[in-house]
Amino acid sequence: MQRAVRVALLVVATAVVTLDHHCTAATDSKMLSPWGWRCEDGRCVKHAAAGGADLVPLNQCKLTCGRAGVLWPLPASATVGRRVSLFLPHNPSLRPTCPAEVCPLLQEAFALFRDALQRYHPDYAGGEAPWAGPWDAATEAHSLVVAVTVEGPQAHLTLDTDESYSLTVNTSADGAATTATITAPTFFGARHALETLAQLVDYDETRDALMVVQTASVTDAPAFAYRGLLVDTSRNFVTVAALRRTVDAMAASKLNTLHWHITDSHAFPLALHALPNMAYYGAYSARQVYMPAQVRDLVQYARVRGVRLVPELDAPAHAGNGWQWTEKEGLGRLAVCVNQAPFLQYCLQPPCGQLNIANPVLYHVLGQIYEELLDMFAPVEIFHFGGDEVNLNCWNSTQEIRSWMIANDHGVDEEAYYRQWAVFQEKAQQLLQKAAKGRKVEGVLWTSELTKPGRLNLSHNSSQYIIQIWSTQDDPVIREMLAMGHRVIFSNQDSWYLDCGVGNFWCGAYREWQRVYDNSPHSIAQQATGATHSDLILGGEVAMWMEFADDNNMDAKVWPRAAALAERLWTNPSTSWREAETRFIHHRQRLVQRGVQAERIQPQWCHQNEGLCYL
Ligand SMILES: *[C@@H]1O[C@H](CO)[C@@H](O)[C@H](O)[C@H]1NC(C)=O
Ligand SMILES: *[C@@H]1O[C@H](CO)[C@@H](O)[C@H](O)[C@H]1NC(C)=O
Ligand SMILES: *[C@@H]1O[C@H](CO)[C@@H](O)[C@H](O)[C@H]1NC(C)=O
Repeated sequence: MQRAVRVALLVVATAVVTLDHHCTAATDSKMLSPWGWRCEDGRCVKHAAAGGADLVPLNQCKLTCGRAGVLWPLPASATVGRRVSLFLPHNPSLRPTCPAEVCPLLQEAFALFRDALQRYHPDYAGGEAPWAGPWDAATEAHSLVVAVTVEGPQAHLTLDTDESYSLTVNTSADGAATTATITAPTFFGARHALETLAQLVDYDETRDALMVVQTASVTDAPAFAYRGLLVDTSRNFVTVAALRRTVDAMAASKLNTLHWHITDSHAFPLALHALPNMAYYGAYSARQVYMPAQVRDLVQYARVRGVRLVPELDAPAHAGNGWQWTEKEGLGRLAVCVNQAPFLQYCLQPPCGQLNIANPVLYHVLGQIYEELLDMFAPVEIFHFGGDEVNLNCWNSTQEIRSWMIANDHGVDEEAYYRQWAVFQEKAQQLLQKAAKGRKVEGVLWTSELTKPGRLNLSHNSSQYIIQIWSTQDDPVIREMLAMGHRVIFSNQDSWYLDCGVGNFWCGAYREWQRVYDNSPHSIAQQATGATHSDLILGGEVAMWMEFADDNNMDAKVWPRAAALAERLWTNPSTSWREAETRFIHHRQRLVQRGVQAERIQPQWCHQNEGLCYL
């Protein structure tokens, strides 16, 4: 009622708004800016508003200037028009065409799209933004139809999922109706298209309305199938709320894989129905536990946002706390060297702990854990075995294990222990495949002593494991892995470890976003082998090891740097971070609007004065 009266008044009072002009109509509650922007040679240049009728607000300039406005990651191909139409958040409507299997997912993704629009409002405080107006009738009535066609029924992301989409935006000649037409082979492509469409919208503070570009044409597909982020919930616990927030920001950046390093020697925070003692002994406290129902919810939460979860149960090293319960029950020790000191003799970082390969009960328990994990995270396509940094002295200085080695004629030299590590890994693989009950589950291993030439092939072949490379980009292991024909995921720590840069921590300096962005797996492979090996390189992942992070600071450590990875893996640009900087600064702001406490990467002046802040 109130709104109708106001609209009637406005129709009388306001001439048709020329949409690409700076509107100077003031309201009592708003301080208007004396500045306006003009797109000049592909960048937004700030001028005094008196400087021309073609000046527009900053956000409008950003949306419509440059090669592709402020889209992040940059699409494979995009043209974006120069004019915008105003509308309000209640205006968009979905016109879906979809197989029954994915229609509910699409409806949810559209609700998220609308929520993303609300969040552009500077006064957004959860739920709905306090839109105040006043608006002209055209803005109130503007029709924004989102016509989405999903061609295929695939409801789960796999390494073969086609995430491509096409998106066109057209506006009627009278400017009254905008139609966004999305076509995608899968729900996942359609979801990405909605993210792109949300980035063709922004808030117009001079008119308290949203604006959408009147025309756009985007054809898009990711360069890499695996675009990941690792979080570690063992060194420090993080809440499910923080994990959800992380998934939100991943979705906004078209990252598709959350690699969850759930357990380590420090803590075992995952509750298991079949083995409640694992978390009972292993969690930091009874509250710092992930319940199976919470995990299931998170899997679904992520799926709607185009993100798969890859659970990691690191073994046989990086396992200690949580595994102690069997001794009291007369089942022997599942782990040895647990919390043993001085740590440097038994592991690389306190607390120590390694699984007890001499105790057959270990394999029984491991099988039970895999079974429940696969159920909780269902459907699991990719499982991470961990498998790094076994300390031979830990095993060799444990009487029980050394005697077992000798009794079984394995010997006790280095290669003997590496062989038994390989045997452990082979058994773990068999237990996982058994737990998968005939479904295909890919296993991932970190590069380690085990993956060195002549070791991994003791019992494996190249198609059995995906290898995650965490060594530096000049390490011979890269050539070795590719030469052996392994499919690989890059996480070379010299560019993609987000935990570095704290005091004298082992991995040195902070990996700034420019370094994250410019790290190209294909270039590294080219350097190492003379070929890009695009068939073997599935993608990459930034790693947020959590020695120095929990809920309170992980957002700022991960974001926006993980978004720099996102463009590297989605677009695989041949250009460097310089070409991306303007869009990146804006995307960081978008991530903040999505609810993550992303770190500032420049003074705000640089957002308003594009291209003038290169170091
Ligand atoms: C294990 O201990 C034995 C006896 O102390 C020693 O001879 C052997 O070299 C050790 N093996 C490794 C891998 O350190
Ligand atoms: C592993 O592969 C390497 C290179 O192909 C070969 O030289 C070595 O003999 C193999 N080792 C075993 C135990 O099969
Ligand atoms: C390699 O591993 C794959 C997957 O487990 C299996 O199907 C294949 O038979 C193995 N090849 C050889 C030569 O062992």
